[in-house]
Amino acid sequence: MIWPSLLALTSLPFIYAAEQDDGCEEKVASTWFAGWHANDGFNVSDVPWSKYTEVTFAFAETTPDVNTLSFNTSGIDSEDVLVQLVAAAHENDVDAKVSVGGWTGSLYWSDNVGSAENRTAWVKTLTNLVSKYDLDGLDFDWEYPGKQGIGCNAVSTNDTDNFLAFLKELRENPIGANITLSAATSIAPFTGSNGTALTNVSEFAEYLDFVAIMNYDIWGSWSATVGPNAPLNDSCADAAYQAGSAVSAVRAWTEAGFPSGQLLLGVPTYGHSFSVPQANAFANGSDTLALYAGFNSSVHPAGDAWDDEAGFDVCGAATTAGGLMDFWGLVEQGYLTESGDAADGVPYVFDNCSQTPFIYNTTTEVMISYDNAESFAAKGQFIIDMGLAGFAMWEAGGDYNTILLDAIREKVFA
Ligand SMILES: *[C@@H]1O[C@H](CO)[C@@H](O)[C@H](O)[C@H]1NC(C)=O
Ligand SMILES: *[C@@H]1O[C@H](CO)[C@@H](O)[C@H](O)[C@H]1NC(C)=O
Ligand SMILES: *[C@@H]1O[C@H](CO)[C@@H](O)[C@H](O)[C@H]1NC(C)=O
Ligand SMILES: *[C@@H]1O[C@H](CO)[C@@H](O)[C@H](O)[C@H]1NC(C)=O
Ligand SMILES: *[C@@H]1O[C@H](CO)[C@@H](O)[C@H](O)[C@H]1NC(C)=O
Ligand SMILES: *[C@@H]1O[C@H](CO)[C@@H](O)[C@H](O)[C@H]1NC(C)=O
Ligand SMILES: *[C@@H]1O[C@H](CO)[C@@H](O)[C@H](O)[C@H]1NC(C)=O
Ligand SMILES: *[C@@H]1O[C@H](CO)[C@@H](O)[C@H](O)[C@H]1NC(C)=O
Ligand SMILES: *[C@@H]1O[C@H](CO)[C@@H](O)[C@H](O)[C@H]1NC(C)=O
Ligand SMILES: *[C@@H]1O[C@H](CO)[C@@H](O)[C@H](O)[C@H]1NC(C)=O
Ligand SMILES: *[C@@H]1O[C@H](CO)[C@@H](O)[C@H](O)[C@H]1NC(C)=O
Ligand SMILES: *[C@@H]1O[C@H](CO)[C@@H](O)[C@H](O)[C@H]1NC(C)=O
Repeated sequence: MIWPSLLALTSLPFIYAAEQDDGCEEKVASTWFAGWHANDGFNVSDVPWSKYTEVTFAFAETTPDVNTLSFNTSGIDSEDVLVQLVAAAHENDVDAKVSVGGWTGSLYWSDNVGSAENRTAWVKTLTNLVSKYDLDGLDFDWEYPGKQGIGCNAVSTNDTDNFLAFLKELRENPIGANITLSAATSIAPFTGSNGTALTNVSEFAEYLDFVAIMNYDIWGSWSATVGPNAPLNDSCADAAYQAGSAVSAVRAWTEAGFPSGQLLLGVPTYGHSFSVPQANAFANGSDTLALYAGFNSSVHPAGDAWDDEAGFDVCGAATTAGGLMDFWGLVEQGYLTESGDAADGVPYVFDNCSQTPFIYNTTTEVMISYDNAESFAAKGQFIIDMGLAGFAMWEAGGDYNTILLDAIREKVFA
């Protein structure tokens, strides 16, 4: 796309990125491709290219030097994978982007935009990245401006203001003006200088084409009970369980002045595992799985082969097993059949409020909160009903035979 002049922006709605030349709205089907999984079961050649409009390489991580990025997420240098990914995307007429930051790669984001001098250097670093790898766009996955993420990020009360100033400067650059820009965000709008969510983020919509709301990890091992990883809705849940959802996140962003037509719904191809004693797992002694069951937080079930083992994070803090289970992992471990349905005799429940499923292994006493075709279809319908721009799926390699991708596409591209 061509970024219009700022003058034109004052008189026109921001619809450029969402429209094709014929004026028909084109929905965005986006996914993040995790570079470190390329040689671990999901290679560039495994991407179902015809089902995406853009693919975003994860990650270019920040480093102590504003002039330097690292492709070494999870200790695997993936620069060669990025080169392959862009080439394959372009062969397939799909846009290629790079996501900058990520959960483990945002340590220096705050510093990089922390002064006028650094913002200029950061714009140069990122436009060089675009030129060097022939990118169509950048995604800013700063987790999070004005809020601590992993534990050792630089954070400043000025982060969100500085981020906006950086975006402005990037758009003034001819390369920055010519690419798609998105931010991967929390369910709450950007944090203001007083530490709470801003009530007016409309200015961001002038510089960002899209905000991708990461509506996942809403419940996990840190929560008080089992709960939905990626709730579509929580307004229908008891007050104690209203921890966020696509419904409340879209409401928060649009009430803060961000246009719904520039929002992408982030959707997960993985779930979270919880250790739930059988006594808690079934509602009222029935054979129906309980919602919001109590779990044993001193047990940390392992997820699938892609799950992080216990160890130390990039801040040096001790970690337990992550318990992440990809959709393919649920099939591989026998929870689901090859068509993605609960296997015979495996306890399963679909929560009608969060519109997400839960499944249970009575032997290991592990309960998993995840997404399936039904929940992805519901999210796809929500995208259409709310007039959102499309979806962004974490991550390309988590699906099984494109069951999830097909389910959401069927609604979004109906
Ligand atoms: C991944 O695909 C690239 C080409 O896209 C190929 O060069 C590489 O050998 C593949 N790696 C694996 C592990 O299959
Ligand atoms: C990548 O990270 C791993 C572990 O974090 C480290 O051992 C390795 O030296 C790094 N490689 C590069 C090229 O930075
Ligand atoms: C600017 O970047 C440098 C290194 O890249 C960093 O040391 C410094 O703290 C940054 N300045 C601010 C104000 O964050
Ligand atoms: C935030 O920016 C203002 C100027 O815009 C500056 O006076 C203040 O020192 C900055 N605060 C921090 C924590 O960097
Ligand atoms: C703008 O983007 C188009 C398409 O990606 C590219 O062909 C063109 O060279 C770019 N222009 C500039 C100034 O970077
Ligand atoms: C923080 O700022 C927001 C506006 O961005 C305002 O609505 C809110 O009342 C402020 N909170 C405090 C505690 O000052
Ligand atoms: C939000 O901010 C923009 C400029 O940043 C301003 O034009 C608009 O009036 C503000 N909206 C509200 C509801 O205050
Ligand atoms: C969310 O729940 C509320 C309260 O039950 C309901 O009014 C609303 O229609 C629901 N929205 C969706 C998208 O499910
Ligand atoms: C369990 O019992 C309580 C009270 O008897 C009832 O409100 C609730 O709906 C029951 N739950 C299920 C899943 O049957
Ligand atoms: C939780 O698991 C630990 C370790 O297996 C066990 O010692 C403890 O008894 C369990 N607690 C409950 C309430 O089941
Ligand atoms: C439950 O776990 C047991 C022990 O690891 C395993 O043999 C069985 O296949 C699992 N069942 C399901 C449905 O995942
Ligand atoms: C969800 O709704 C369906 C159909 O209305 C119903 O059969 C099912 O019991 C409900 N599930 C739960 C967990 O309440």
